Amino acid sequence: MCGIFAYYGDRTDAAKIVIKGLKELEYRGYDSWGVAYKTEDEIKITKEVGKIGDIKLTEQKFEKSKIAIGHSRWATHGGVNKKNAHPHSSTNKEIVLVHNGIFENYLEVKTKLEKKGYKFKSDTDTEVIAHLIYEHSKKHNFKDSIKKAIEEIEGRFAIVIINKENNNLIAARKGSPLIVGVGKTEGEYFIASDIPAFLQHTNKVIYLDDNQLLEIKNKNIKFFNLKEEKETKKRIIEIEWNVESAEKGDYPHFMIKEIMEQKDTLSRAINQDSKKIEKLAAAIKNAYGTYFVGCGTAGKVCMVGEYLFAKISKKHINFSFGSEFPNYKDFLTEKTLMLCVSQSGETADTLEAIEIAKSKKVKIASIVNVESSTMARISDITIPIKAGPEKAVASTKATTSQLAILTLLAYACDGGIYKGKQLLINTASQINDMLNPRYEDHIMEIAKKIQHVESMYIIGRGMNYPIALEAAIKLQEVSYIHAEGFAGGELKHGPIALISKNTPVIALVANDDCKKEILANATEVKARGGYIIGVSPENHPVFDYWIKVPDTGNSSPIVNIIPIQILAYQLAVLRKNDPDKPRNLAKSVTVK
Ligand code: AGP
Repeated sequence: MCGIFAYYGDRTDAAKIVIKGLKELEYRGYDSWGVAYKTEDEIKITKEVGKIGDIKLTEQKFEKSKIAIGHSRWATHGGVNKKNAHPHSSTNKEIVLVHNGIFENYLEVKTKLEKKGYKFKSDTDTEVIAHLIYEHSKKHNFKDSIKKAIEEIEGRFAIVIINKENNNLIAARKGSPLIVGVGKTEGEYFIASDIPAFLQHTNKVIYLDDNQLLEIKNKNIKFFNLKEEKETKKRIIEIEWNVESAEKGDYPHFMIKEIMEQKDTLSRAINQDSKKIEKLAAAIKNAYGTYFVGCGTAGKVCMVGEYLFAKISKKHINFSFGSEFPNYKDFLTEKTLMLCVSQSGETADTLEAIEIAKSKKVKIASIVNVESSTMARISDITIPIKAGPEKAVASTKATTSQLAILTLLAYACDGGIYKGKQLLINTASQINDMLNPRYEDHIMEIAKKIQHVESMYIIGRGMNYPIALEAAIKLQEVSYIHAEGFAGGELKHGPIALISKNTPVIALVANDDCKKEILANATEVKARGGYIIGVSPENHPVFDYWIKVPDTGNSSPIVNIIPIQILAYQLAVLRKNDPDKPRNLAKSVTVK
């Protein structure tokens, strides 16, 4: 949620470097963008409403500068307009900053500052931080005034600040990510919300931890804990990701690239250290109460996990969305295990759930894609899914890799990790065969037919019920068609009233013990005029349109979601939506 990028070094086109970096971070927010850069004698600020991706660098004129900070916004406080776009500044640009997160008590602080005579130009919480730092700077140096201001800020945030007085740059974080890229020349640094933004410059990184602050002064970078004076030593880490893995290549959009990458990503997820999987499986087996926790798509993956564990290892799992987890706090003990699933590892609701669990001494495990994320670093056990950067807002390849890891864990929990691996290796090879242009054309036929519908529904049973919910998320977020998922058996208790002539209903029909019932549910819908799109290994007379998927037994959730991902993508393109940056959304939801 919101992308931050900053440059400090010897190159003189700092503003352009920042804009280029922000373009890589646009998936985190694309309501507006802005950059502030230091020239010889002042700080210049440029901001615009809209997507930074639409900006042509060659058409932008910036004065020479070696220090710049920038921001791509996902609006929280205040509407989408120029005055609310970042960077924000104190009255005479003494302090200029970019901010990701939410300043929860900003109104209280704003009122206090207003009483002291401060005037506000925007509706944002961020502008309050700029004035607050300036107020403290009357008595303290740049670094200490920031520390003092942070003491008054409640909430999660990442901020990068420059000032009029000197050429120092300061960044701090509490809850929202910030990573430093160490440049190839002495004293050159990039600061960003996510690594792919500076991969074109460097793969050497330093992670800023929670409650830490960094100061770049005279080309030297120093790290401090917010509550301590003395410096904290940090390690430079070389990361494996390369620029190509974060680029679109020949694909028109990241979403379709990432869908197609599932030919490889599944194998990468399952071909990892079995000992780690077995260790976590043993922890789940021995825990008194296990909670699977995630949000959005990752939440639906957790729900599938609940079914997988019930079926494969006869183990009861509790599921909770991150935002609902506080309701279970009274059931947490030292013997509880919490397993969090997250692509980004930065989702605020899930991180907050972890904080609650940690306060009860619960053991934390996580399945994440971004190995450098907060979640990975605060977990006792982390299983990386190794899907590579996922940039489209709609999660695709991360979803199937997370499902694969949970399937493997369920088998391992029953002592059958080898059986699980065999199943998933077979699934990966069938997906490889499935993802070809003919398959896409086949799905395009149905996409064209339903592209103008107002509503559609998806039904599933057993472990494919959460997949029906996930299918609905995929369709909603990129096609903007009203889509809802239901447990097949629940239709007759209400939702069937929504079916009229030609309403599209996707039935997820796996070759499992729910098959007869879900086909019966599809027949009930058809009797009310519904148009049945069957996703199934076999055709059936009730289907008006059949999308064939391989028969993969307990990994049917993985193969069933893939054609829906393709359908959602194609609908987005046909309806002229941007599948990578759907309206109102952001890739990583770092606010509650
Ligand atoms: C997925 O398509 C969504 N964009 C969204 O629901 C996402 O899964 C959710 O915000 C959780 O993100 P995470 O996996 O990074 O924690």
